[in-house]
Amino acid sequence: RLLIIDFGSQVTQLIARRLRELNVYCEIHPYQHVDDAFLATFAPKAIIFSGGPDSVTRDGSPRPPKSVFDLGVPILGICYGQQVMMQELGGLVETGHGTAEFGRAFVTPTDDRLPLLDGWFTSADGREQVWMSHGDHVSRIAPGFQVFGTSSGAPFAITADPSRNFFAVQFHPEVHHTPNGAKLYENFVRLAGFTGDWTMASYKDEAIARIREQVGDKQVICGLSGGVDSSVAAVLIHEAIGDQLTCVFVDHGLLRLNEAEEVVTMFRDNYNIPLIHADEADLFLGELDGVSDPETKRKIIGRLFIDVFQKYASQIDGAEFLAQGTLYPDVIESVSFSGGPSVTIKSHHNVGGLPEKMGLKLVEPLRELFKDEVRALGRELGLPDKFIGRHPFPGPGLAIRCPGEITREKLEILRRADAVYIDQIRRHGLYDDIWQAFAAILPMRTVGVMGDGRTYDYALALRAVTSVDGMTADYYPFTHDFLGETSTRIINEVRGINRVFYDCTSKPPGTIELE
Ligand code: XMP
Repeated sequence: RLLIIDFGSQVTQLIARRLRELNVYCEIHPYQHVDDAFLATFAPKAIIFSGGPDSVTRDGSPRPPKSVFDLGVPILGICYGQQVMMQELGGLVETGHGTAEFGRAFVTPTDDRLPLLDGWFTSADGREQVWMSHGDHVSRIAPGFQVFGTSSGAPFAITADPSRNFFAVQFHPEVHHTPNGAKLYENFVRLAGFTGDWTMASYKDEAIARIREQVGDKQVICGLSGGVDSSVAAVLIHEAIGDQLTCVFVDHGLLRLNEAEEVVTMFRDNYNIPLIHADEADLFLGELDGVSDPETKRKIIGRLFIDVFQKYASQIDGAEFLAQGTLYPDVIESVSFSGGPSVTIKSHHNVGGLPEKMGLKLVEPLRELFKDEVRALGRELGLPDKFIGRHPFPGPGLAIRCPGEITREKLEILRRADAVYIDQIRRHGLYDDIWQAFAAILPMRTVGVMGDGRTYDYALALRAVTSVDGMTADYYPFTHDFLGETSTRIINEVRGINRVFYDCTSKPPGTIELE
């Protein structure tokens, strides 16, 4: 296995992801935990030093134990990791002199015979785009090292001591903006002797072992939304500790057609997971009665959700842990480049304060994974594809797809119209090309004519977007035929709708949901 020593970079987890993509097993450990005893037990086959925010020129800045260099295993240092390697092995690192680089840079090879660089410099002009983020720079390399690539701000962008298999680069090969970065990791693990035989099945087994170790014989509760993340977390934890897990599914009456039954059947009948179905539709819809302001709706739902969850969770004897489907992108601190205070566009559903309030410890088995990896893990756990590939669904549910006042009548119409719309998308094989699609019932009635009679019914908006992360989005370019057919089906099959609009707003300026 490979050890990543974490010096605090924002993107350390991306190194792990690149290695998982190469089917190499790795673990990230913070530098404070890595000492001689740790190294002896861990017995790494190769080591990567991550980047980090500190400066090696500062006394007391993070260091690896000196003994790592005597293990006889390949080491790759990245950014801060490069600098720490140079400093520890007798080179020199300095601050300033106008050589800081942030963002895109180009590395030119000075010697490309290094195995680490096999097949890396592929561009016509011989330069390779990389992503830099450093204030300090190496000004003298350590004895035994040679330079293999330079950039305008980093004369020692790529350095290595091939005899010891020590490699050190100033840039971040793990990020998207170093387009060929994965190649360096591939070369590194190959020369360290990894065969790439580690899979998501192995990840599952390791995650199960970790959950067992963390939880022992204690009880765990898990809030289940029916979404991919909490579902995968629940099934994984259930495999690990069986009936020590109880799930609470809060049904706020704002779910889609048949959704509550599907989720309950799936977990109770197919997986035998103890599940409390908290049917609190009356409570939520009662408190939302007559409320039309979007933020007020969101706040009411958020508050009630916490109350209800707490009420049911407190009925579970001896619960000490709360399981959450937190993913890695939720963990990375978002860096604000504008520096200005940000404005709240929408109050997102947030149960962040719950564990402290209830005195619970967290179990977050998906913390290291990205969405697509969670899906792969879900498949490994036998969750049906239809469930795993589902579009995101917001915590406040249909409340924010029913602008203005919410009534049971409107919700019923919306559920049926949304089901027809999604059915159309599936029938046309478009579901997986779309990031999120849904219908919204508009707070207006319009006049129509059906079978010689006058109608005065609700208008429906259809929304479908493409996106990578939900932060920006573009509307999906359905064909006119598709839109026409869908409109006809909805109006024919759903009583209460006599007009259908397609929302062709991107985000920004729109948001994905209507409220
Ligand atoms: P917006 O509407 O802000 O949505 O463009 C971006 C993504 O976030 C989802 N969304 C939510 N998800 N709780 C959630 O769990 C919320 O309160 C919430 N509001 C919006 C939305 O469905 C889209 O995928």
